[in-house]
Amino acid sequence: MKNNLQTVAALLRLQARRLEMPEGRAALEEAIRRVRAIALVHDTLSQTLDGPVDFDEVADKLIEMVGEVSAQPDSGSLPRRVGSFGLLPAGLATPLSMVLTELLQNALEHGLRGRSGVVEVSTRRLENELEIVVADDGEGLPLGFSLTQSPRLGLQIVRTLVEGDLRGRIEVLPRAGGGTVATLRIPVQLTGGD
Ligand SMILES: Nc1ncnc2c1ncn2[C@@H]1O[C@H](COP(=O)(O)OP(=O)(O)OP(=O)(O)O)[C@@H](O)[C@H]1O
Ligand SMILES: [Mg+2]
Repeated sequence: MKNNLQTVAALLRLQARRLEMPEGRAALEEAIRRVRAIALVHDTLSQTLDGPVDFDEVADKLIEMVGEVSAQPDSGSLPRRVGSFGLLPAGLATPLSMVLTELLQNALEHGLRGRSGVVEVSTRRLENELEIVVADDGEGLPLGFSLTQSPRLGLQIVRTLVEGDLRGRIEVLPRAGGGTVATLRIPVQLTGGD
């Protein structure tokens, strides 16, 4: 599975290089990023079988990967993680990784487009719930933004995964002081070692 995904990513990359059309190339690069995110998680998961996953490790790899691909040259620093995800059931790790990738990507590409700023992923364990906040202090959501009405693919993937696979809730709102905050709450049973 992992090798297949890496092959797919490599092929898409080759194709993207040959494309002259900027939009076509951008769309392919998005697809590559999505495939790579899945491959990366798979890599970690395949080492743990069905047991709990140390999600901090996965999240840090994702942050590094998305930062590498999307951070604008002048945006200052990479996203940073505050707090610990702890051990998560393996079944949550893949959908949660996809969601994080999309939110980080948006914070860097839309929030911090052409400006410097900070992106922070903070997380804390509440009783039977994991709270994850992705915040940027960038340019903020466009006028008339609506999470449920957005016709774009990224946040639709996010909503489907959060409400379906993760059985959780998500809000994307303006941040006090400027920028955007996405808040995610997903039900999680405590796993050992916590
Ligand atoms: N952190 C953010 N800061 C500013 N605007 C944002 C942020 N996150 C989302 N948006 C706005 O919401 C829109 C929808 O986001 P969404 O991720 O669904 O689509 P996209 O990023 O434009 O395309 P893609 O399907 O490739 O993700 C964006 O086009 C952008 O205008
Ligand atoms: Mg997006």
